[in-house]
Amino acid sequence: MDGNGRWAKERGLPRREGHRAGAESVREIMEACKELGVEYLTLFAFSSENWSRPAAEVHALMALLERFLREKAKDLDRQDVRLLAIGQLDRLPAKTRTLLDSIIARTASHSSMTMVLALSYGAREEIVAAARSLATDTAAGRLLPEAIDAELFSSRLQTTGIPDPDLLIRTSGEMRISNFLLWQISYAEIVIVKKNWPDFREGDLFEAVEEYQRRHRRFGAL
Ligand code: FPP
Repeated sequence: MDGNGRWAKERGLPRREGHRAGAESVREIMEACKELGVEYLTLFAFSSENWSRPAAEVHALMALLERFLREKAKDLDRQDVRLLAIGQLDRLPAKTRTLLDSIIARTASHSSMTMVLALSYGAREEIVAAARSLATDTAAGRLLPEAIDAELFSSRLQTTGIPDPDLLIRTSGEMRISNFLLWQISYAEIVIVKKNWPDFREGDLFEAVEEYQRRHRRFGAL
């Protein structure tokens, strides 16, 4: 969800206003995905690198996230949406974490769609943690190195049980992955949209899905 800061700057507004407008896009995109029958929607809301932003911006983002969670809790119930989170969640403020955990628990049995929030998330950190967990088992004699394959490796990632993404959309025109789901996007179709995230709304999502439908996926085969 890139470009909140630029969206605000173009309007002479503080960055937090860009994030606030971005939260509106989150609401709309979540509903649109539900309508489209998307089973898993993963949103990169806060990266492990975002902690180095000014404290006021980090604080504004956490406050927005809390507001979103509080306001959306009922809708998630009504729409049968399950909430999950990936990332180094122990780095979140205790208040945010408690709220997040309570909504994850409350929506655990919902099955129409799963919304995954990537918070304090970094793909390299996730991959290193998976490698460390396999190495620990190997060193303890519980796992033979030959038994380590892609499937076992995947199962040690935080996304275990969540299918790999079919489509990755990045807004604001940047042609980068920025440490997002590096393992999981191996065969994802990538659509780069020029608009900043706060301007990315339902119609833009439909266009991205149409672009995806025109792609011919080969998964490395002919
Ligand atoms: C990137 O734009 C965006 C973020 C770091 C935060 C995304 C957060 C939200 C959309 C709102 C809160 C989240 C939820 C789930 C309600 P940027 O600040 O890097 O923009 P720039 O590259 O233009 O500076």
